[in-house]
Amino acid sequence: MIIKRLELKNFRSYKEEEIEFPLGKILFEGDVGSGKSSILYAIEFALFGLGEMSGDMLMRVGEEETSVKLVFEINGKEYSVFRSLARKEKGIAQKEGWILYDGRRHFLSSTEMRKKILDILNFKESVKTKSSFIYRYAIFTPQEEMKEILRMRSEDRLQTLRKAFGIEDYKIAKENAKLILDEIKSKIRFLEGEIADLDKLMKEKEEKRKRLENIKSEIENLENKKNSVSQRLEEIKLEIEKLDKMYEEISKIEVQLPLLEKEVREKKNIILEKENENRILSKEIISIEKELEEGRKIEAISISEDELREKIFENIKNKEETIKKISEIRLIIKNFENLLEKGICPTCGRVVDPEEFKEKIILERKKEEEISKEYEKIKNEEKILNELRDKLIQYEKISKRLEELEKRLKENKEKIYSNEIKISETEKELKELEKNILEKRILVENNKELYAKIEEKNKEKTIFEKHLEEIISQISSLKGNLKTLEEILSEIEIQIDKKMRKKEEKEKLEEYVIWIQELFIPALDMIEKNVLLTINHEFNEIFQKYFYMLMEESDIRVRIDESFSPIVEQFGYEIGIDSLSGGEKTSLALAYRLALNLMVRKVCTSMKNNILILDEPTDGFSKDQIFKMREVLNNIDCSQIIIVSHEKELESFVDKIFYVEKIGNISHIREGP
Ligand SMILES: Nc1ncnc2c1ncn2[C@@H]1O[C@H](COP(=O)(O)OP(=O)(O)O)[C@@H](O)[C@H]1O
Ligand SMILES: [Mg+2]
Repeated sequence: MIIKRLELKNFRSYKEEEIEFPLGKILFEGDVGSGKSSILYAIEFALFGLGEMSGDMLMRVGEEETSVKLVFEINGKEYSVFRSLARKEKGIAQKEGWILYDGRRHFLSSTEMRKKILDILNFKESVKTKSSFIYRYAIFTPQEEMKEILRMRSEDRLQTLRKAFGIEDYKIAKENAKLILDEIKSKIRFLEGEIADLDKLMKEKEEKRKRLENIKSEIENLENKKNSVSQRLEEIKLEIEKLDKMYEEISKIEVQLPLLEKEVREKKNIILEKENENRILSKEIISIEKELEEGRKIEAISISEDELREKIFENIKNKEETIKKISEIRLIIKNFENLLEKGICPTCGRVVDPEEFKEKIILERKKEEEISKEYEKIKNEEKILNELRDKLIQYEKISKRLEELEKRLKENKEKIYSNEIKISETEKELKELEKNILEKRILVENNKELYAKIEEKNKEKTIFEKHLEEIISQISSLKGNLKTLEEILSEIEIQIDKKMRKKEEKEKLEEYVIWIQELFIPALDMIEKNVLLTINHEFNEIFQKYFYMLMEESDIRVRIDESFSPIVEQFGYEIGIDSLSGGEKTSLALAYRLALNLMVRKVCTSMKNNILILDEPTDGFSKDQIFKMREVLNNIDCSQIIIVSHEKELESFVDKIFYVEKIGNISHIREGP
């Protein structure tokens, strides 16, 4: 860090002041109380805030607001930091603050600013410390604090220096390691408790796994059994189906039997009927033949019916003519008798000869007699003709009858023949039918056996079904067991897995314990001791170098002991610091401070060797000693050394002088050469 510029406003004895810092050795020179140390306070306030300083100490009396702006450079990069204080009812408090870098102003709270500044300075320390420990020991150690370090009890000093050298980190690391160790041990104890039942669980897992295998093989056996039983059951079912079909078919046949028997009866009836019919027909044939024989005996009549009809017709005509003749004659006779009786002709009125008329009548009577004879003859012939006609009718009747009989005879014979054929056919059919019935009867008879067989098969089926059911229920219950067991097993496995991981964790932690206990902590101890020893050694060298530089001709010998306490010897005897003169004391303090500053800077790797601030380093020095400061200052390898002093003699040792004066109540800074 290089300080470039400082602006003060109402800071302690200052009203308003601006200082540009060059590189090299800078001296702020002025009387006691002129306002030199205030500049250093302002720098520290700008960087770290109030810290151990109070607002009242920094704010100018009677003012309401105070501010400081510091411009500094780190690795070529410029930063501006601004802080302010304001008086309030309760007291003085920090107000607005900002840091400017990368062309931007970052407004931050006081804590955020401290954190950022530590970051920028690359100081690896806690934000919680009031100021910066590294700043206080590596850059600027106020005079009072320096004296305090020297006055401290050796243990307290060692403690403080350990902090300054970062040795404290080893102790903290050790303590942390012990804390971690305790934590790890308690974690191990906890894990031991957690895995206490691991062996038991493993055993349980093995048992359950065996049981699981057993159940699996049991299930497999049962599955095989189930398969063979169901196969057998299927076979039985098929057999039953086959038998049922057979039984059904035969049952159908059984139903057919009465129908067939009815058919037999019908056929028998047909035969009987036909035989009966034939008997009747045969009898009829016999009587027909007899009748035919009788009928054939009747002689044949030679005249034909037409001839006979003609003759009869002629006979009737003759008869009618004869009757007509007779009636005509009778009429004539009658007329003659009338005339005879009256004696005159009515027509002509002449008298009638009775003889004549008697003769005439006799003659007519003779004629009548002859015609009557003729009539008798015709009548006789009529009688014969009528008889012949009757005979002819009779004959024709018989002929017709014979014809009928013959026809009938023929028909009967044919009928008998057809009946016989029918009988023979029916008998044949009957035979077939009976044979068929017989066969079917046998089948039906066998069906009873079939029924019994089906019953038996059904019983067998029921047994197998029951058996199958039992097996299935066994399997399902076993599967249930299996599932539960698998769940339990998986739960156990999860537990074992968890516990195994815990066991591994425990074993790892045990390794850590060994490592921390036996390697890490002893290593820390050793490192701490060695580091401290090395620092002590170097510290001693620097301390002696600067002390002897300032006290060239003195017979006083100094060194530091292992607790960094300065030991002063004269003539081989150890003497107390209080017995030293003022100048000797200041030399010892300055040598000690430089050794401390340089060592802290060396230990804190983040610090670059570029700034050192010294406040009144020559307080109590003799003129001679003051001149020795030139060598000391030249010996310090630093790009910027800020020295505050009231000694004018230092002027010739530095590159730049600022004169600090208080005029009235206000401090002013005047640039010197
Ligand atoms: N809050 C303050 N307001 C005004 N003046 C102050 C305040 N605090 C201290 N002073 C005065 O400022 C002057 C400068 O102090 P300081 O810088 O310590 O002097 P020195 O130059 O001796 O180091 C002293 O006279 C001191 O009394
Ligand atoms: Mg002072």
